Amino acid sequence: MAASKRSEGELLPLPQDLSHHFSEVTKRRTPSSIKEFYRFFAIPNIGNLGGGLPNDELFPFDTLEAQTANPDRYQCTPNHPVSARQGSQPVTRGKVPQSDVNTASWRIKVPKTTPQVDPLKRIDLSTALQYGTAGGYPPLLSLIRQFTTELLHPTVPYRGGPEVILTCGSTDGFSKTVQLISNTWNPSHDPVSSRPGMLCERYVYNNALACVEPRGIQVVPVDIDSDGMMGKGPGGLQDILQNWDPRQGARPHFIYTVTMGHNPTGTVISVERRREIYAICQRFDVIIVEDDPYWYLQFASAAEREAESRGHVVKPAVPYAPPKLTGYDFLDSLVPSYLSIDVDGRVIRLDTFSKTVAPGCRLGWITAQPAFIERLERITETTTQQPSGFVQAMVVEMLMGPAQKDKVKSFHKLSIKDKAQYQGWELDGWVRWLEGLRGVYERRMLRMCSLLDESLFQLKQSTPVNDLESDWGVITKTRIMSYDWPRGGMFVWVRIHLENHPLWQAKGTSVPVLDGPALAQALMIFLTHKPQLVIAAPGTMFAATPHVAEDTAWAYLRLCFGTETEEKIAPCSRRFAAGLQRFWRIKSVEEMERLVAELRSSSEPDLEDLANLGFEGDE
Ligand SMILES: Cc1ncc(COP(=O)(O)O)c(C=O)c1O
Repeated sequence: MAASKRSEGELLPLPQDLSHHFSEVTKRRTPSSIKEFYRFFAIPNIGNLGGGLPNDELFPFDTLEAQTANPDRYQCTPNHPVSARQGSQPVTRGKVPQSDVNTASWRIKVPKTTPQVDPLKRIDLSTALQYGTAGGYPPLLSLIRQFTTELLHPTVPYRGGPEVILTCGSTDGFSKTVQLISNTWNPSHDPVSSRPGMLCERYVYNNALACVEPRGIQVVPVDIDSDGMMGKGPGGLQDILQNWDPRQGARPHFIYTVTMGHNPTGTVISVERRREIYAICQRFDVIIVEDDPYWYLQFASAAEREAESRGHVVKPAVPYAPPKLTGYDFLDSLVPSYLSIDVDGRVIRLDTFSKTVAPGCRLGWITAQPAFIERLERITETTTQQPSGFVQAMVVEMLMGPAQKDKVKSFHKLSIKDKAQYQGWELDGWVRWLEGLRGVYERRMLRMCSLLDESLFQLKQSTPVNDLESDWGVITKTRIMSYDWPRGGMFVWVRIHLENHPLWQAKGTSVPVLDGPALAQALMIFLTHKPQLVIAAPGTMFAATPHVAEDTAWAYLRLCFGTETEEKIAPCSRRFAAGLQRFWRIKSVEEMERLVAELRSSSEPDLEDLANLGFEGDE
């Protein structure tokens, strides 16, 4: 499909030359003369006296072997809201029944060497553990290129389509992207007018800030609504760019955005919103850096289950008929990347295996127009060179196994039973694995949100003030939290209504006023005490700027439903909700002050409490 798109694509425009966005260092980079030489090494039977490579026979590993999960280990959830309501595939409310977890595993083996001569198919230790080219290990690079261009982004609307380069994860990908498109700025000798700027959502993954701020890049927050980054309206992207005051620095020339299962807010940006934002980026010549580690975690059931839980009218599901592009209903049902509308070639997309395989792999990739990837290769040559050969070999063997096994001499010596154990996932298996992971996280999200929904208010029975009322219990209902059920990702972004706490604005001694930030600090500590024993990430950790932290971020907590096991999600959610209710019953200013003091003191938390963080006593 994608191939035919690409040949039709002769009529598509070429990506624009956007090299004016490159940093000064990026412009000056030249190819590594050593790495350029590598292609000659592949000439059959060439006597290699030119390289400085160690001899691969001396590598102390004879094989790499592993047991891997069967790709259908976890049960899936529905791809479309309608089927969710009809319950054609159950979205279990509690634990995944044991029978839904396929515990079978497969074996994979990377041999020392194979007779395979095609570098795109050759997976062995003598090549994987050797020095290589900056793009990545050829068989893995080729597989990712295929997955990216045929399945993830089959319709990138510029001629030839995008290129990819492997990275050591999205953190590495972002750091290299920042080097690619941004100069550093030194306040002591550079003019303010040259200060580069980065736009991002008002609440943002904090590691991205830690990457840009020391380089002098100005962080410019864009307002969000329940659909993610706003294009139009006050505080939206257009407003900021149109009214930019050059005395603040150069008008920002790139956006850092997490568009699917945003960290921390859980939104998924719709195709319509993407079009609006993209058009603004075209008008103001802005590059979009799209960092989407949670793209496959889009929850079709969230909107309906939220409405059901809160007694809202369930809006009839908008008939969603995504184009059938890939042949995989799961992939076709997902909101596509900014790349799908990137006519200019201004999108740089970061992907990672951290959430689909494991963070310790340190493996990911960047997808962008070829001219950007070529410069990223130059950056990679002098930094990481390539992700680890061990990881690349294991991951590609897991994904491509069967293509390999006939080529491995030693494989033929195995018994039929042993041969049957050696498997690889192939693309079908990989897609099924992702779909199963989505199922696991979606069930956890539904479980957490349905429990939290029971505690949105504090209900209090007041004493009747006169005889007429005495037959009626007077119930007051105070809102203590609100949130949207996440449409994707791993997080619930909870707004705590501290302005409704009985001690709001009370005067203290060590804390002069119990304002929002002070009460938020007290709550954070209170939650870590018994019997609550839960940690929630404070909203201020995700504030794009100090102003956002003081203005609104203190009112939020981020709850992650990804880390704890299926069994612990319910007790942790209950302890959080019960803790919030208890916090609302604190009437003493001194007690609040003690909690704030505990946070501000540098004393270590009680280790016994920490060891017990996962206890299930109040299930
Ligand atoms: C938005 C976002 N980007 C990047 C990362 C880190 O990715 P990696 O492990 O690939 O560096 C995370 C991890 O939590 C994340 O949430």
